[in-house]
Amino acid sequence: MIAHSILDLFGNTPMVKWRPRRSNWDLYLKLEKYNPGQSIKDRAALNMVLDAEANGRLKPGGTIIEASSGNTAIGLAIIAAIRGYRFVAVLDPYVPSEKVNLIRAYGAEIVNFDPPATMDLGAALIQRETYASELSKRTPNSIYVDQHNNPANTAAYPATLARELIEAVPDADLLFGAIGTSGSICGTSKGLREAGHKCKVIAVEPRGSVFFSSEGGPYFQSGSGNPPGIELPRILDRTLIDEGLQVTDVEAFSMCRALARCCGILLGGSAGGVLFKAYKYIEPMKREGKAVVIAADGGEKYMSTIFNDEWMRENSLLDHELEKSIAEWFS
Ligand SMILES: Cc1ncc(COP(=O)(O)O)c(C=O)c1O
Repeated sequence: MIAHSILDLFGNTPMVKWRPRRSNWDLYLKLEKYNPGQSIKDRAALNMVLDAEANGRLKPGGTIIEASSGNTAIGLAIIAAIRGYRFVAVLDPYVPSEKVNLIRAYGAEIVNFDPPATMDLGAALIQRETYASELSKRTPNSIYVDQHNNPANTAAYPATLARELIEAVPDADLLFGAIGTSGSICGTSKGLREAGHKCKVIAVEPRGSVFFSSEGGPYFQSGSGNPPGIELPRILDRTLIDEGLQVTDVEAFSMCRALARCCGILLGGSAGGVLFKAYKYIEPMKREGKAVVIAADGGEKYMSTIFNDEWMRENSLLDHELEKSIAEWFS
């Protein structure tokens, strides 16, 4: 295919299929890192911009403002560059440096807060969202994208990701995906259900996030989860999620590290967590089946964290035994 714009390359990401050892199930890994901004959030970013253009909120030469854990901002930065908008990304201190550098490379302006003394993800999220909303109010011809409460986020997925999954694996039994704003898992589920697909939809959040448990706490997975102390996204529709699971940082990151070495697949932290829970879910099942796992982004953005032994050790996240077991399951 010859694209006429990088926007034509959003979506239609590849899938890898394999059957782990000791399992009667086929796993289909949807690699969203092959979007131009290297994550699933490109799809939401594009739809939210198109929606704001269509309803007249975003006018030529306008300014896009968004608070982000990184991936949405990368997508918006690409779209803004192509369509001639100014883009201001409001980031929190936990955004990995690789993501910050990418956003900057596409010409976006960055507002970044100093690292706080404690790891309070909720406070960081409130700080960045409040700042972005206020900045938009005092910036003429600007929009605050507000992905947590923007229905165009969820609406990005039925005609794109859901359609691609139905075409690739029409008889999938299970769908696993991470949850952050909830846009991707709920939007994909909506598309599947509208098409009459019966597969069970399972959302995975970091342990410490409060979608499926009231026991909140700190976690290092980036992009997924809703930390304690902040409201759940208004776009969340629980009727579209059949089951919610939690995964620890150690489980998620061990999966990323092991999979890179045993299979040559570099996953980001949320994707590692989703794949870990998917494997644990299907492992005891006797009957045959098919599970689709959405991998939201790739490990390339986490070289200074998940793939850095020193950072992993400092944060007590290294578990060589678990990495060895995972490599056995998947090699
Ligand atoms: C790496 C990663 N995983 C998962 C998610 C969650 O996706 P969603 O916001 O669609 O729930 C995000 C969102 O930013 C992300 O960046």
